[in-house]
Amino acid sequence: MDASSLPNPLDFSGKTVLVVGGSSGIGNGIAQAFRRHGAQVHVWGTRARAADYRADEGSDLDGLAYCKVDVGDFAAVAAATAPDLLDVLVLCQGTVAYGRKEFEMDTFQRIIDVNLNSLMACATKFRDALAARQGSLITISSVGGLRATRGNPAYAASKAGAIHLTATLAQAWARKGIRVNGVAPGLVDTKLTKVTIANDDRLRERLGGIPAGRLGTPDDMAGACLYLASPLASYVYGQTLAVDGGRTL
Ligand SMILES: NC(=O)c1ccc[n+]([C@@H]2O[C@H](COP(=O)([O-])OP(=O)(O)OC[C@H]3O[C@@H](n4cnc5c(N)ncnc54)[C@H](OP(=O)(O)O)[C@@H]3O)[C@@H](O)[C@H]2O)c1
Repeated sequence: MDASSLPNPLDFSGKTVLVVGGSSGIGNGIAQAFRRHGAQVHVWGTRARAADYRADEGSDLDGLAYCKVDVGDFAAVAAATAPDLLDVLVLCQGTVAYGRKEFEMDTFQRIIDVNLNSLMACATKFRDALAARQGSLITISSVGGLRATRGNPAYAASKAGAIHLTATLAQAWARKGIRVNGVAPGLVDTKLTKVTIANDDRLRERLGGIPAGRLGTPDDMAGACLYLASPLASYVYGQTLAVDGGRTL
C-alpha cells in the first residue's frame, strides 16, 4: 500500500484494537490515542471492573471496552473472550518488584511470566485474528531491556527477551501478513515508576541522563504506536523503537 496516497494514514476508523495492559499508564494513553484516531478499542487489566480504576492513578477508561484478564495465568489468557478479528494488538502489560525482591526465585518467575511469557501467550492466542486482518502486533518492552539494571534482574531479562521475541515473531509471521514491532519506552511517570519519580534526588539524577531534559509521557509512546500500526510503517518489521528522549544514546 502506498501510504503517501492515503488522505490520512493515521485514520483507524473501522479498525479494532486491543491493548493488553491498557487500563492504566502508558497502555491507557495508547488505547485512548487509538480511540481518538477512530478505532474501536478494547483493554485488559487486573481489576474486576472499569469503575475500579481512578483518574488520579493515570486511568481513563471512557469509551474503552474493559475486560479483566490476569495475563500471568496462561489458562485465563486462553479462556478470555476476545474479538475474532483484530487489526492491532498492543502488548503493554508489565510489572516490576523493588527492594531486591527480583533476586528471589518466586518473584523472578512471576515477573518473567507477566513481562515475557504472557507476551507469547497473547501473541499466539491472537495470531489468526491478526492474520485475518493483515494486522499489526506491537510489544512494549523497555530501555531496561537494552542494558543491565542492577536491582531488577527479572525486569531487565524479561524486557531483553521481549525485544528478541518481537524480532523473532516478526520474522516468523511476516508471510502471514502480520507486522510485529515494538516500542522501548524511557522513563514515564506511571504507577510503575512512582518509587523513582516521587523521590526528588532520584528524579533529578535520572533527568540529568535524558538529553531531551524531560520525562516521557504516555502520548509520546502512543505516537510511536500509531506510526508502527499505520501504513506509514508498512515496510518496518521486527524493530523495537527506543522512545526515550535520547537516554540510551
Ligand atoms: N513507566 C515507565 O517509565 C516505563 C518505562 C519502560 C517500559 N515501561 C513498560 O510500559 C508498560 C506499561 O507500564 P506503565 O509504566 O504504564 O505502568 P502501569 O501504569 O502500572 O501499567 C501496567 C499495565 O500492565 C497491567 N498488568 C500488570 N500486571 C498484569 C497482569 N498480571 N495481568 C494483566 N495486566 C497486568 C496493569 O494492569 P492494572 O492497571 O490493573 O494494574 C496496567 O494496565 C510495562 O510493560 C512497562 O514495563 C514503562
